[in-house]
Amino acid sequence: MAVKKTLTALLEENKGRFISGEELAEKLNCSRTAIWKAVNQLKEDGYEIISIKNKGYKLSETSDILSEEAISRYLDEKYEINVFQEITSTNDVLKKMAVTEHSPQGTAIVSDYQLGGKGRMGRSFYSPKGTGLYLSMLLRPDGSVIDNLMLTAQSAVAVYRAIKKVTGIELSIKWVNDLYYNGRKICGILSEGQASMESGKMEYIVVGIGINIYEPEEGFPEDIKNKAGSILGKRSEGQQIDRNELASEIIREFYDLAEKRTLAPEYIEKNIVPGHDILVIDGQKVRNAHAVGICKDGTLEIIEADGSKNTLVFGEVSVRINDKNEMI
Ligand code: BTN
Repeated sequence: MAVKKTLTALLEENKGRFISGEELAEKLNCSRTAIWKAVNQLKEDGYEIISIKNKGYKLSETSDILSEEAISRYLDEKYEINVFQEITSTNDVLKKMAVTEHSPQGTAIVSDYQLGGKGRMGRSFYSPKGTGLYLSMLLRPDGSVIDNLMLTAQSAVAVYRAIKKVTGIELSIKWVNDLYYNGRKICGILSEGQASMESGKMEYIVVGIGINIYEPEEGFPEDIKNKAGSILGKRSEGQQIDRNELASEIIREFYDLAEKRTLAPEYIEKNIVPGHDILVIDGQKVRNAHAVGICKDGTLEIIEADGSKNTLVFGEVSVRINDKNEMI
């Protein structure tokens, strides 16, 4: 197991380049037969490894299997990364770890596939295999729910920055915390947590992020196909990215921004809601309003249908743009 883990890290580090069996055996302090066996196990796990006599082993440039080793190599040791090829919901599992294992801040779960991905307001989140990135990050913040409301906005900016860095693509942010590309939703964020009734302080917060990187080969399901999009289109048709690198960038940006007390400027600059007629969804009730602007604390200033001014706070409501009578 130790050989397999270290070998994964070495192959990921040298992705696209041959390393000889001899060099690997020396680095891992084991026999060349042990290397050969571990390579075969990795191939069984789906890794595309090219073996050539006298040259050694090479992990293909297009290899895109999520792993702790590949994500951690971009990060420092303060993070505890757990990778699953499939899971019920990264949020649910991390919340359980927060309570039963007392996992610390910096613990993250990344998965390739979710059987029961959860969205906001009790909805499900479509999380197919091999085309997205589903991750949750644990925080043990100071303060109450109110003190931590800005985290929702900071999470959206963390995704914005990470995607820009890894792909060069600039997404739009839709208040509260959806990310859009070419008019379609490509990322949703679900923040959950637990507060102490005695102290009023947060015990933990789990921020879950789901990104459609590629469009599934069979397309999106009927119920979301007019709304959902992807960053890169179908994997078979074009550009590829390293999802491990993207996961590590999101994790780093997220924890950096979570420490900051001022709202990241991109949240306002890239927000598509101000200036639009909107639908305000407040529990079961929906009403019309006009979005004026995003305030410094990330709240949304609106004008209600009767002309009165109001401010929407994260966690209370969600908005839909309405100016072409389209629900997006
Ligand atoms: C939404 O748009 O309604 C929020 C979607 C949040 C989805 C992510 S995927 C990772 C994490 N685990 C979940 O079950 N949900 C969040």
